[in-house]
Amino acid sequence: MFDILFVMIFGLSGRVLTKDTDTKGRFSSPVLDVTEKQLIIERNQTLQLNCRGRWELQWVLPSGVPKSFQSTQIQETRCGRKTNQYCSNLTLSPALAQYTGSYRCRYLQKQRKQASVYVYITDSQRPFVKMQSEIPDVVYMKEGEPLVFPCRVTHPDTNVSLVKYPLHVLAPDNRNIIWNSRQGFSIRSPTYFYIGLFSCETLVNGVKYSNKFLTHRPVNKILDVYLNSTSLLHTLQGEILALNCTVTAEWNSRVSITWTYPQKANGSATISRRISRSRTNMLFYSVLTIPRLSKADRGLYKCQVTSGPSKRDTNTTVIVYDQPFIRLKHRNSPVVQAFAGQKSFRLTPKLRAFPAPEVIWLKDGMVAAERCSRYHVDGFSLVIRDVSEEDAGIYTILTGIQQYGLFQNLTLTLVVNVKPQIGEKTVSSHQPGTVQRGSRQALHCTSHGVPPPQIQWLWHPCPPKGLSPARLA
Ligand SMILES: *[C@@H]1O[C@H](CO)[C@@H](O)[C@H](O)[C@H]1NC(C)=O
Ligand SMILES: *[C@@H]1O[C@H](CO)[C@@H](O)[C@H](O)[C@H]1NC(C)=O
Ligand SMILES: *[C@@H]1O[C@H](CO)[C@@H](O)[C@H](O)[C@H]1NC(C)=O
Ligand SMILES: *[C@@H]1O[C@H](CO)[C@@H](O)[C@H](O)[C@H]1NC(C)=O
Ligand SMILES: *[C@@H]1O[C@H](CO)[C@@H](O)[C@H](O)[C@H]1NC(C)=O
Ligand SMILES: *[C@@H]1O[C@H](CO)[C@@H](O)[C@H](O)[C@H]1NC(C)=O
Ligand SMILES: *[C@@H]1O[C@H](CO)[C@@H](O)[C@H](O)[C@H]1NC(C)=O
Ligand SMILES: *[C@@H]1O[C@H](CO)[C@@H](O)[C@H](O)[C@H]1NC(C)=O
Repeated sequence: MFDILFVMIFGLSGRVLTKDTDTKGRFSSPVLDVTEKQLIIERNQTLQLNCRGRWELQWVLPSGVPKSFQSTQIQETRCGRKTNQYCSNLTLSPALAQYTGSYRCRYLQKQRKQASVYVYITDSQRPFVKMQSEIPDVVYMKEGEPLVFPCRVTHPDTNVSLVKYPLHVLAPDNRNIIWNSRQGFSIRSPTYFYIGLFSCETLVNGVKYSNKFLTHRPVNKILDVYLNSTSLLHTLQGEILALNCTVTAEWNSRVSITWTYPQKANGSATISRRISRSRTNMLFYSVLTIPRLSKADRGLYKCQVTSGPSKRDTNTTVIVYDQPFIRLKHRNSPVVQAFAGQKSFRLTPKLRAFPAPEVIWLKDGMVAAERCSRYHVDGFSLVIRDVSEEDAGIYTILTGIQQYGLFQNLTLTLVVNVKPQIGEKTVSSHQPGTVQRGSRQALHCTSHGVPPPQIQWLWHPCPPKGLSPARLA
């Protein structure tokens, strides 16, 4: 009971703390010697705050207080009757209006355990914590969040009004427009009305002071991301690589474009950027250039785009060859088979080459496409339309990369299979004739086909006389 009473007395005034009974739970948070929630002092006065606790202490000062500044002194001592406590005394002298803010003392190891006091340092020539500047500060509007004009003041009773340019005075209504001397004005549900130039204004001794703000509603719409190569990109060592990533975004958007690529750590690439506006959109270009490719530059190149919470990316894979090459081989065998009457037939040997070679097809030593209108070159294949027997022959593919003096030829033989046909059948069907018994007769059968057909004769004995074929059945 005594302990509880003691804590209450201690709570009311830290200065009473002279005896220290190490009761459990005491100093679970550090304790300041001021018990008020806020202090008001004048400029040039000295601000002294003393903090005490069970463990090592640390101060968190308002952003306006310069770090490692002569006028800031922190004295740390062991204190308490058994010197088993920690004391940290902060002295700011002279205090300046821009030091207005929340002063917090916390445990170094348990930072959530803290004590704080809000200190106003009044200055009749500086009603706003932030100095007025001719260039307005930009305030971003975010969907679903209140809009805050951070015009904190150095005296809690300062009368501030919010003005929308050119002349629209907004009074706090405690519903949508809220005034708070420690924060400034906040608008709970900002509408389009709140886009524009605003200022917080106050009159001190007939002098007008203001803090200006420009509100901005960021647009984060990425409409399109385009990389001028998205499939495999084949290149040669020593060559230049240039990739152009183009981002189309809504007007007023800001985007950030970053590249990831294999040699990023070495910084082997240079990146240039450009922005242009069309009537409806913004275009952002980022061009990545590697002046001399090496083997180590092969791999994935990714253009990543972010605009606020929106993200998009696109990529390409770069293959770097040591040197130009042509590899030309038969697909299965040097002889290929087609059938007469086939709608089309494609001659395609295996060809891998870089850079792309020139290709010429010869048939029997003459340029194929000039020989017959049914032949045409598609990619590096030769396509034959309506295959006929005369297409059989020797074909040669000539490949070459003139620039590097690389040439390779390959010859293949096309066999066109033709279904056997009997010549006599096409002329007329022979009527059974009568020949003299014992005479010598020659029967002719002419047949053609590829490969040459084999001819076989079959003899069907005539049905006995007087019996018609129908009866026989
Ligand atoms: C504070 O001190 C400065 C210089 O030391 C002086 O110019 C100023 O008038 C003082 N301000 C107040 C409010 O005493
Ligand atoms: C620091 O503050 C404590 C009280 O918390 C006080 O007893 C002590 O004298 C102060 N030390 C200095 C150097 O001001
Ligand atoms: C602020 O305005 C109120 C009434 O409008 C007035 O009573 C008060 O004195 C003003 N405060 C200051 C610091 O000018
Ligand atoms: C990048 O590509 C866009 C369109 O694809 C083009 O307008 C732009 O000029 C290119 N940038 C460079 C540096 O070539
Ligand atoms: C991509 O764009 C850059 C810059 O405009 C250009 O130099 C490069 O040749 C283009 N690359 C491809 C694969 O089109
Ligand atoms: C890039 O860095 C790696 C390792 O840091 C190194 O082995 C390599 O030679 C570098 N390449 C270039 C082109 O500088
Ligand atoms: C590269 O882009 C393709 C789509 O263009 C996507 O499917 C793939 O996941 C991307 N790869 C990486 C590693 O981002
Ligand atoms: C390829 O064929 C052409 C024409 O028949 C010939 O001039 C050339 O020497 C041949 N090249 C090779 C590498 O066989």
